[in-house]
Amino acid sequence: MEELIKKLGEQLDASLANIRGKEELSDFWQEFFGKKGKIADLMKNLGKVSKEERPAVGKIINEFKESAEAKYRELEKKLDAAELERRNREETIDITLPAKKQPKGSLHPITITKNEMINVFAGMGFEIFEGPEIEDDDHNFTRLNVAKNHPARDMQDTFYVAEDIILRTHTSPGQIRVMDAKKPPIKVLVPGRVFRSDSDATHSPMFHQMEGLVVDKHITLCDLQGMLDKFVQNIFGENVKTRLRPSYFPFTEPSVEVDVSCFECGGKGCGLCKHTGWIEVLGGGIVHRNVLANCGIDPEEYSGLAFGIGIERIAMLKYGINNISLLFENDLRFLRQFRD
Ligand code: DAH
Repeated sequence: MEELIKKLGEQLDASLANIRGKEELSDFWQEFFGKKGKIADLMKNLGKVSKEERPAVGKIINEFKESAEAKYRELEKKLDAAELERRNREETIDITLPAKKQPKGSLHPITITKNEMINVFAGMGFEIFEGPEIEDDDHNFTRLNVAKNHPARDMQDTFYVAEDIILRTHTSPGQIRVMDAKKPPIKVLVPGRVFRSDSDATHSPMFHQMEGLVVDKHITLCDLQGMLDKFVQNIFGENVKTRLRPSYFPFTEPSVEVDVSCFECGGKGCGLCKHTGWIEVLGGGIVHRNVLANCGIDPEEYSGLAFGIGIERIAMLKYGINNISLLFENDLRFLRQFRD
């Protein structure tokens, strides 16, 4: 019997020495401690032992069982600790590693400027309307009081798509579309792309404008100047103001060219304002009675103000950009400067 126990002890030690994981450990338990396990077999042998020897042998078996169980527990603890250590190691975050770069895009300076402009006018209660980029002659010219053969058509070099179908040369046709769809009071902004066959450092064949139109009773040039003062102050700084100069547009009467006092030199004269103290920023005026009448609005009852702002021009002034092509080349070295 003792011999048997000794052999089993050796087997047990050998098995324990080979255990690498919890699964093997559980197999080991079944093999030795299970109902049909080796230790249970040993107990069965106890029946064969003589009565006198039985207590002593029983004691030996029990001691063997206890020591085997202790060995098992010890190994289980070791394996648990190793497992915990492995998990901790795997789940550790090395905070000394440089973070993965998440490249961040940014809005285009034209979009930034456009949004800023919309914000200012939205604060005054303007709604947004967008018209089509492919426009007909009627909306782009005729109903804006620019008849066929009118010399004012030469003011803008037009891209033709078909006879009487063009790429809009300005956002002003948006005025006609709004007044066709809606009766006064009207207070809308029409932002969008416009197209002219023109290209140099300050002109691009495609650029952006923002049209403004207000139609109601008793609208005057003072309303126009008041709104534009707020606009330029928001864009160029608290201390600037506007100046209106007489001009000509077929769709407004009177028409004005709007200058802003130079935000660079405060009006003293500098390179930016060409030593005049003023910078031209937009055109506007009082909506021509013919234009109102063309849209079924009675010019005796209502009057309107309108303005058209070049978004590139505002962006170039605001950011000190001296060549319009920078706005369309999409050179990342340029665009990255507008990241916030
Ligand atoms: N449409 C004109 C242009 O593109 C700008 C303009 C001038 C718009 C006067 C207006 C305005 O609404 O009243 O040159």
